[in-house]
Amino acid sequence: MRANSTFFNSKREMAVLKHVLLGNYLMPFCTMTTSAPAAPSVWYIDAYAGPGRYQHDDGSPGEDGSPSIALGIAARLATMERPRTLHCIFIEQKRIYVDSLTALSSAGTFLAAPEIIHGDAHDHFVAAVQKSGRDPLLAFVDPFGTALPYAILRDAFNARPANASTEILVNFHLGSIARIGALLESRHGVRGQNEKTLQRLDALLGMKWRELFRDYYRPGVEGSATEAAMIVAQAFRDEVLKNDGFKSLAIGVRKANDHYPRFQLTLFYRHPSAEYKFADAAHAANREWRRRVSEDEARHQADRYPDMLLPPDFDERQFADQLERDERDLDKNWTAEVRANILRELRGAPSLPISSNVRAIYGAALGLAGESNIRKAWQALAAVGLTSDYNKNVIRGVIARGPNWTPNAT
Ligand SMILES: C[S@@+](CC[C@H](N)C(=O)[O-])C[C@H]1O[C@@H](n2cnc3c(N)ncnc32)[C@H](O)[C@@H]1O
Repeated sequence: MRANSTFFNSKREMAVLKHVLLGNYLMPFCTMTTSAPAAPSVWYIDAYAGPGRYQHDDGSPGEDGSPSIALGIAARLATMERPRTLHCIFIEQKRIYVDSLTALSSAGTFLAAPEIIHGDAHDHFVAAVQKSGRDPLLAFVDPFGTALPYAILRDAFNARPANASTEILVNFHLGSIARIGALLESRHGVRGQNEKTLQRLDALLGMKWRELFRDYYRPGVEGSATEAAMIVAQAFRDEVLKNDGFKSLAIGVRKANDHYPRFQLTLFYRHPSAEYKFADAAHAANREWRRRVSEDEARHQADRYPDMLLPPDFDERQFADQLERDERDLDKNWTAEVRANILRELRGAPSLPISSNVRAIYGAALGLAGESNIRKAWQALAAVGLTSDYNKNVIRGVIARGPNWTPNAT
């Protein structure tokens, strides 16, 4: 393969994870919340929509952004045996992006015309949420930098009937919190412009976060600001649970494997199956992300040696084979992790309902392992009688101690 091959495309890896996760989750969200015959309508609100679809530098159409992904799902739902209507609302501040969203929305056939709001999400988000009435709603809050103020998020939660399916996926920008938090230890002191920036974060998080950040932040120690930001993010999620009754699951988004996460895609939810489905969607998204990161690394090598034939490592076939081998190894490790976690949980209780024990079952592999790993682990344990028989409806499954169960099993 020549070094300047166009085999690798250029979508930024972190956007890949975000978009694959969104697409993989929105579809099951729509079908799971509209399974009753009386509920054929579901809503998606993209509060910081962007252009809808990206363009390559040469102006040719690029990859789907979140609105385009949602519209694709709306079109699929419309043609299902039992059609469902996905109502989409896109809020965007930038005129040219609104024009691009308008063009995108008029190009497809949907059961309900997408609504495009040109304006500030702060002003329009809650009113958009109210439009969904009692129908299920998934909102996506994906700003650049810090997120929607907590006060607005709360108004949105409160605008929904208590028993309606409501989920909000927030792209929580750890990098911004780390950068702003580090101002607390600025050698210029906390005053003037720094204090104003800090106050913006106070208002945004709507909670006392400064002491917490200071407790964990060690100036000059690499990664410590991000670690402190992650503690703050966890405290924020605890606050939402306490005040609003929404649980949450945060999936880290990194630039490379050994990096700290820059973002956390955080799902706020109440639905009992949400955690299971979201973790499984993250598993598939992370797989796609790893592929893109490897491709990007190969492309980087190609750019560095533009006039050379690439070494065999970067031959397309070999590249794909190596990736497949790596993926198989990872998959084995995750199945082993899930297997060990199931046995550990069964030591404490005779049976383990799966969908309400997602975090315990995945353990350190949360967001990386998926339903397929639970299947394999359960099948292997059942085959030697350590657990009850495998049930292929995993999400509704309950794993119990089997006839050969022993607490010493590993
Ligand atoms: C990270 S991009 C969104 C990307 C998009 N969600 C996607 O995944 O394809 C953030 C977008 O929010 C828009 N934006 C920034 N502040 C906004 C605000 N206050 N209200 C509405 N849109 C805003 C920006 O113009 C930008 O298009």
